Amino acid sequence: MLGHGSFGRVFVVRRYSDGAELAMKEVRFDRADNLDMVRAEVAALMHLHHPHVLRYYDSMSDPAVPCLRIITEHVTGGNLTEFTERQRLAGGVLPDQARVLTRSLIGALAHVSARGILHRDIKPDNVLIRAADDSPCLADFGVARMTRGHASSVVGTPAFMAPEVCTGMPYDGRADVWSLGATLYFAVTGGRFLF
Ligand SMILES: Nc1ncnc2c1ncn2[C@@H]1O[C@H](COP(=O)(O)OP(=O)(O)O)[C@@H](O)[C@H]1O
Ligand SMILES: [Mg+2]
Repeated sequence: MLGHGSFGRVFVVRRYSDGAELAMKEVRFDRADNLDMVRAEVAALMHLHHPHVLRYYDSMSDPAVPCLRIITEHVTGGNLTEFTERQRLAGGVLPDQARVLTRSLIGALAHVSARGILHRDIKPDNVLIRAADDSPCLADFGVARMTRGHASSVVGTPAFMAPEVCTGMPYDGRADVWSLGATLYFAVTGGRFLF
């Protein structure tokens, strides 16, 4: 098992045809709001093809559990919270690493928002690091939402949430920009919160 958070467990699986290692996130929908979240995650990932967005392969439901399983690339360097802690112990994030993180994640978010998708939960736990080159990819679109206008429900993680989201005001893609800023601040300062 690779990890588990609020909505799913994540396992490493092997593709039968070529032995490739992939990741499988299993999200149970014992609650109706869970099912909506899984649908949002799959719908968002299917529209995204970017080098710094978690690569999506397939999804299938299992009515016997009941759950939905989402197959994605397997990212082997842990998440950005773990990466930040490793770098902190080794003396801090280097300027070149900070540049790679910043450039890659801004590119990923530009791609996401150009497709009318709000991520709504950008934070270090939801950024995964590829061990081969320490490059990041944006993951966990579990509370993403496709929108043409504004959203107003309060979702996300307080330390990385934009003020308008915390206070229940209408918000748009700029809230994701705030969360990305807070996430990058966390990484380059070795784990400090913006507020
Ligand atoms: N494709 C993956 N490759 C490697 N690790 C993953 C992958 N997906 C998730 N993880 C690990 O599992 C954790 C939780 O996954 P996430 O998609 O954020 O689920 P949740 O909705 O439960 O927060 C991540 O922080 C990461 O450590
Ligand atoms: Mg998560």
